[in-house]
Amino acid sequence: MLRTHTCGELTAKNIGEEVILTGWMHRRRDLGGLIFFDLRDRYGLTQIIVDPKVPKAHLVAEKIRAEFVLKVRGKVQARAEGQANKDMQTGEIEIFAESLEIINEAKTPPFEISSETEVKNEDLRLEYRYLDLRREQMQKNLLLRNDMTNTIRNYFHRENFIDVETPIMVKGTPEGSREYLVPSRLHPGKFYVLPQSPQQLKQLLMVGGLDKYFQIARCFRDEDLRGDRQPEFTQFEIEASFVEQDDVIDYIERCFYDLNENHAKNKDWKKFLVDGKFRRLTWLEAMTKYGSDKPDLRFGLELTDITEISRDSGFGVFDNSEKVFALKVSLKDAPEGFSRKKIDELEKVAKQNGARGLAWWRVGEETGAVGKNTTEKFREILTDKVGAEAGDMIFFGAGDFISATEPLGAVRSKLGDDLGLKNSRDFAYCWVVDFPLFEKKDDGTIASAHHPFTAVHPDDAEILKTDPMKCRALAYDIVLNGVELGGGSIRIHDPKLQKQIFEILGMNDEEISRKFGHLLKAFEYGCPPHGGCAMGLDRVVMLFADEPNIREVMAFPKNQMAVDLMLGAPSPMPEKELAEQNIQILKK
Ligand code: AMO
Repeated sequence: MLRTHTCGELTAKNIGEEVILTGWMHRRRDLGGLIFFDLRDRYGLTQIIVDPKVPKAHLVAEKIRAEFVLKVRGKVQARAEGQANKDMQTGEIEIFAESLEIINEAKTPPFEISSETEVKNEDLRLEYRYLDLRREQMQKNLLLRNDMTNTIRNYFHRENFIDVETPIMVKGTPEGSREYLVPSRLHPGKFYVLPQSPQQLKQLLMVGGLDKYFQIARCFRDEDLRGDRQPEFTQFEIEASFVEQDDVIDYIERCFYDLNENHAKNKDWKKFLVDGKFRRLTWLEAMTKYGSDKPDLRFGLELTDITEISRDSGFGVFDNSEKVFALKVSLKDAPEGFSRKKIDELEKVAKQNGARGLAWWRVGEETGAVGKNTTEKFREILTDKVGAEAGDMIFFGAGDFISATEPLGAVRSKLGDDLGLKNSRDFAYCWVVDFPLFEKKDDGTIASAHHPFTAVHPDDAEILKTDPMKCRALAYDIVLNGVELGGGSIRIHDPKLQKQIFEILGMNDEEISRKFGHLLKAFEYGCPPHGGCAMGLDRVVMLFADEPNIREVMAFPKNQMAVDLMLGAPSPMPEKELAEQNIQILKK
């Protein structure tokens, strides 16, 4: 090694020792004669002192600039009286430099490498990610990610799951997103597809008798990006044979206990347990109470179904809507009230989530659409139903079940932020179960709510043919503080039933055989009942690291436009290479 110690390990115990340290020049203070600087590596900072009495070293020290790579040989000594820094691991000592060598010079970085200054321009950080990674926060996040993946691996290893790598060049699998294609040079006109997840492969591993599979798997989805979405991301995911829903939930839940115990020491998660387990809500309950299938349970503000009492409200919008929901915000939760501007902001959120507007009523007043247009009797019953008092605010959602609840759910979440109801120390986990099996797409066709391999809830099997939209699925999501961490399901293992589902989804025999022939064929050779679950590793680490987006816990993420600014990807290809791949670019 070029060094005897790292920059984070020397303490008073080492005083008097001769050491060699290497690292980056972090910060320099020139005190006329004496030059002090901090040398930095992954492990910490160590103060170096260079005395003019050691002229060779001093000459070099005068030349060094931020981010130069240096090698220092010297003696560990106690810092001068009153100079010790208790907040620093190496704060009691410094190295008296006997020799100093510049291993490599560095240009002035485009931003300061420091834990104190925030770099506002994220694209600049991503372009120079290798410099950004030198910042303490990024190193902490990647270390946490490393530690958490170790905990996850150890847990599943202990539980007898086998880590199997599945291929990256595969065939398309319908999980709701557009796919990334890889052209085949050997088979002109044909393409591999990058996996949206190893879904079908892990099911085929169950047919293969692996019994319990686990992987930390890279997944690819060409979808619109958000803070918690990247085109390339990582899942930790399992599949197991001869299991029921409770077994899979139990495996995952215990993995999270391990993660909490080891990596969320400053988080309050046990107070949200119900009978020692993560709370469970049905999808219907989650939507009805919180207007979301990923409810944030750190705070109340529950919705109330007021459909029944709204029938004769006098207000056409309510009287004619299939469902009407109310969200009461009491004056004590929002003592500052709601200005016109605030209401407009909330209305914008409601509209972004599918509402046409956001009706509201300040209890006791005859203002606003609801205050003016509804009968006094309705307002009385409503006040009683939602337990409101004068001055409280009530927001309304009306439409079909989804459009009456979802916009209010989004308003609830924004209020949670605005009113400071989301305690960052709280970790409120829950499982959402009994999802619908199907959903209607905008064009009126039926799609799988999760994916087409999900088993129908046994209580609803009889209505699969007659009333598929009413069927629930054996599907479950794990949610933490309003973020969907993962999801899974018990799968269909009967080839006939699987084919029937494909048919309900509108596929004909040719399409079924082209897309899923391999799966149906495999199922005909003795497929065990099986189920599994997949968690977004990036999202889980993001929440444990208290970061606002998953880019902060990924080494080399793409930006919001799916561009890798450091590598410059995607990039055009030379004609020759395109020709080799049998690709011709269409002119726009
Ligand atoms: P699903 O599509 O719900 O299920 O994905 C599981 C989890 O993966 C994470 N995730 C993402 N993370 C970052 N960027 C993205 N673009 C992204 N998309 C999804 C989320 C999500 O909850 N095959 C099924 C699992 C199964 O049934 O076993 C699947 O992939 O945290």
